[in-house]
Amino acid sequence: MTPHKTLIVFDAYGTLFDVYSISKACERLFPSSGQALAQLWRDKQIDYTRLVSLSDPHGINGSQHYETFWDITQKALRYSAQKLNLDLSVQHEEQLMQAYEHLEAYEENAMVLERLRSLGLQTAILSNANPQMLERVSQNAQIHHLFDQIVSVDRVRQFKTHPSTYGLIETLFNVQKSEILFVSSNDWDALGATWFGWDAVWLNRQNAPKDRLGPDVSHHIQDLRSLLGLLGKEALSTSV
Ligand code: LAC
Repeated sequence: MTPHKTLIVFDAYGTLFDVYSISKACERLFPSSGQALAQLWRDKQIDYTRLVSLSDPHGINGSQHYETFWDITQKALRYSAQKLNLDLSVQHEEQLMQAYEHLEAYEENAMVLERLRSLGLQTAILSNANPQMLERVSQNAQIHHLFDQIVSVDRVRQFKTHPSTYGLIETLFNVQKSEILFVSSNDWDALGATWFGWDAVWLNRQNAPKDRLGPDVSHHIQDLRSLLGLLGKEALSTSV
């Protein structure tokens, strides 16, 4: 671990907020196809963010094709339902989209965030989600107050892993790369942050295979509590 971390930055979905309830909601509405829908929906959602970012959302010749993460998520859902031949009513769509705003935080998160803050570290979220989604999900999960800033990539109208999204944090907090530790359950996001020059932690809750693109992300953990161990003895000085 590079010394002198002052700011711990977290990804949102899957890292802080448990997205399992989305699969459960999909399964409830579409028995036996719910898992497949949830998986395709997530893949298509991320696929769309990359498509937008790679194609320059600010547009050449004045064309603009940036869309918020909410709109991208909704369009990805419509596509996925059609691809799987599922009859997605307006009510179904509304229920599934609402699920995004009512995710629970993983149970250890509040304790870990409180400990980090008590050590004098600053905490932030950096997410693809637009500000309203982040505001609602963090308020509903009752962890909103545990962050110095909740930052949406919407400010730069690009999605992770575009360098300008990670760059936002350095500007907003006025910190050096070496002071930042980034935590994400998405291997590609941890890799993007690593490419950007940050120390990153892959929170591999599902024990997934390691990403083959390199370089290797600095740290791998399976539970957020282990973050305290990574940050040194001081963080572990009382029982966790
Ligand atoms: C986010 C997604 C990538 O919160 O999990 O940005």
